[in-house]
Amino acid sequence: MNALETLWIKMFEEEQRRQGEGRKTERWRPLLHIAPPFGWLNDPNGLCQQDGIYHAFYQFSPFQVEGGLKFWGHCTSRDLLHWEFQGISHFPDQPFDCHGVYSGSALAEEGKIYTFYTGNIKEQGEHDYIVTGRRSNTVLAVSADGKIFDHKELLMTGKDYPSDLTCHVRDPKVWKENGTYYMIQGARTKENRGTALVFASADKRHWSYQGRLETEEEFGYMWECPDVYLLDGRRVLCISPQGIPASGLCYQNVYQSVTCFLEDDFRGTMKSSSFRELDGGFDFYAPQSFQAEDGRRIQIAWMGMPDVEEYYVNRTVADGWQHMMTIPRELTVRDGRLCQNPVQELDAWWNQEETISGEFYREIASSCELDIETGGESLELVLAEGLRLSYRREEGIFWMKFEDESLGAGRTVRGRKLESLKELRILVDVSSVEVFLNGGRDVFTTRFYPEDSSYTVRAWGSLVTCRYRFRA
Ligand code: FRU
Repeated sequence: MNALETLWIKMFEEEQRRQGEGRKTERWRPLLHIAPPFGWLNDPNGLCQQDGIYHAFYQFSPFQVEGGLKFWGHCTSRDLLHWEFQGISHFPDQPFDCHGVYSGSALAEEGKIYTFYTGNIKEQGEHDYIVTGRRSNTVLAVSADGKIFDHKELLMTGKDYPSDLTCHVRDPKVWKENGTYYMIQGARTKENRGTALVFASADKRHWSYQGRLETEEEFGYMWECPDVYLLDGRRVLCISPQGIPASGLCYQNVYQSVTCFLEDDFRGTMKSSSFRELDGGFDFYAPQSFQAEDGRRIQIAWMGMPDVEEYYVNRTVADGWQHMMTIPRELTVRDGRLCQNPVQELDAWWNQEETISGEFYREIASSCELDIETGGESLELVLAEGLRLSYRREEGIFWMKFEDESLGAGRTVRGRKLESLKELRILVDVSSVEVFLNGGRDVFTTRFYPEDSSYTVRAWGSLVTCRYRFRA
């Protein structure tokens, strides 16, 4: 352990004590989603499973609730619902990562967890921080248990990336296929085009550049957090591009997360029109997936968005923490669509259930699931007196609309064209709502801030099964 890491640990313990003493209200803390104990959280990192235990690491700013210097936070779970905070796993403590341990991924192999991340360096002086002033290093850190990473290896620096790129290269995602390790990284070219670089390695330490994924037409100026995997016979690409202009109901958020299927090799040109947004709501970014030991492909995303201070006020900031993850979602390909659904473990979470038909008005627990069959009819549902979810058959658009300003804290309205709406699954966890439409073919995710610990639901024209969890 170097002297800087020792100091960070001391400062973190001090912060834990301070936060513990001055405990603020926890009224918006989720029950079953990953959230930081205090401070700021963004992207999920290093998702993996080892000997039955799920590990989720994440971008963590423990000392700055509004975001700042990035560490990796670490938590573990046996069922993807009960998460236990394990402390900080990666500290910015080296000349190659001292301005932030940025996003990356993990491989659980041979009794070890191999993590790959971007060591961020911001140089002092007159820089635009696009073409000059920033350095992105690719780093490997290995651990036996995910808690202690005592050695970091610098794998690649600027000279190892193609020369037509800006200094924005980051977020290595690593996987193994046919005996070879592959790594994909997001990047921005000097012509301000988003791209993803592919590297290969036989030993996880020596990497050679293979080529890149790019679009014929421009599709954003930077691609963050790329992910590639094989699923149900298709090769899926997910990226979080920046710089996509809004178009009708689509691309309404500041930044997006999109997916497409790659028809050819995963190093080549593809059509940008083939992308589809992964989420139609307000808070979803930088998704990452991993393969569980039972073969399932599971994805977790940041239930937040960068650079939204102008629009949204996350009300938990006053409580000393900000942001959370989505529920872990099982991915499948059905009828040529990438579908997302909560992991099956969620079914065992609830301890009360009732089925209601027609119009109803209920007070419900702050953690609940509403499973709705519309029978193909129109539907309207209001959560906590101010979040309206609706679909009118004649119009064919699903709407998520905040009618109460303080409930949305800046969020307004999002919509998506649907050919039909047969079923909805709504997962509410205190200050988050995730809506899975038609078996997860479309999803809407948002934070919300109800003042009371129970919400009212008003629904018309459907069969609704409500599942609740009341504390024992
Ligand atoms: C995405 C991102 C990544 C980067 C990380 C820094 O939200 O900008 O590209 O590695 O966050 O926290």
